Amino acid sequence: MHLISTIAVIFAAFNCLTAAHPTSSEDFATRSVNTLDDVTIFVPPSTYTIPRTLYARTLLLETDGDETNVLLATWENYSPEPPYFPIYQSTDSGSTWAEISRVTDQVNGWGLRYQPFLYELPSEFGGFPAGTILCAGNSIPADLSATQIDLYASTDKGLTWTFVSHIASGGVAEPVNGDTPVWEPFLMLFEDEMIVYYSDQRDPAHGQKLVHQTSTDLLTWASPVDDVAYDVFDDRPGMTTVALLPNGSYIMTYEFFGAPEASFAVYYRVSDDPTTFDSAPGQVLRATDGTIPTSSPFIVWSPVGGANGILAVSANSDSAVFLNQCLGAPNAWTRVTTPESASYSRNLRVMPDGTLLITGAGVLSGSDNSVTTSSIDLNSVTLASCD
Ligand SMILES: *[C@@H]1O[C@H](CO)[C@@H](O)[C@H](O)[C@H]1NC(C)=O
Repeated sequence: MHLISTIAVIFAAFNCLTAAHPTSSEDFATRSVNTLDDVTIFVPPSTYTIPRTLYARTLLLETDGDETNVLLATWENYSPEPPYFPIYQSTDSGSTWAEISRVTDQVNGWGLRYQPFLYELPSEFGGFPAGTILCAGNSIPADLSATQIDLYASTDKGLTWTFVSHIASGGVAEPVNGDTPVWEPFLMLFEDEMIVYYSDQRDPAHGQKLVHQTSTDLLTWASPVDDVAYDVFDDRPGMTTVALLPNGSYIMTYEFFGAPEASFAVYYRVSDDPTTFDSAPGQVLRATDGTIPTSSPFIVWSPVGGANGILAVSANSDSAVFLNQCLGAPNAWTRVTTPESASYSRNLRVMPDGTLLITGAGVLSGSDNSVTTSSIDLNSVTLASCD
């Protein structure tokens, strides 16, 4: 969770792409794919509390299904109390959406209020079959007096949900240094363990730091391990997301309040082991046009685009995305415009046809937020070369 920045950063108004130097003629094969231009998933009613929606997340169901390319979406949903995570489904690659279920708080009596995350088990794990959908999120009472990252599961593709376990408990849900909340879970299976990454304000030595816990059964969770913790108390690294690189290493992005380059600058770290990011150096993300994206990043890797594929990063500061075909090389991030407006904690999802689905649910200051999605074709982008 981040403090609202008062530092205005003026970005170049035009998008300056670096000349393409494909390593082979096959790198940018011309293919015709359908892209989405600001498709509406959900317009909240006026009875919702402003900002009404935020923090969209999507999931592409890829495992063990009768249908292929089913998408799910959820978001922070500021409904009448108690809030819940809506589950919307698209069976046409994101063109149309309908509600199929709601993940409701089954244990705390508080509602499921902030920061949902959806994950599909790629293989049997912890007694749950491959294709089980997990939903982690922050259960918080109406008075915001506590934070509780909880885990739910669906074994029927998102139609019904069951509470699985409590992962982490924290204090008052305010992003104020000295308070003790937990925020923003991100799930990823690694070898024989489920990792949940999250932001943690409970350590008195750090206003906020990034940690993870692991589990072999989804029921009990090992003690938190640091991923990013700066020596300066007021520094606030936040909002972990992680992607697997094609060479077997992992890359994490985070926002860094306290970064020398810009308030909430997007940073990243690369590690052979996704449980040891704490010992990896941090690197600011700076595009070839000089842009430093800020706040609430999200990273994915796409196999499209040459031997290395393409890394894609979204951030709150920009409607554009930042693409890198060089495994995250610092000098090879290209800013690429998209039809999707900027949002707080926008979600990225790589589709089987090589499009990048970009889904947002509005901005922190928004009074008329809605949930929308767009896509760009990664088959036809022109990116900085890797030399
Ligand atoms: C994968 O590539 C990244 C970026 O060049 C590098 O930092 C990392 O060490 C590589 N990993 C392996 C296992 O070679």
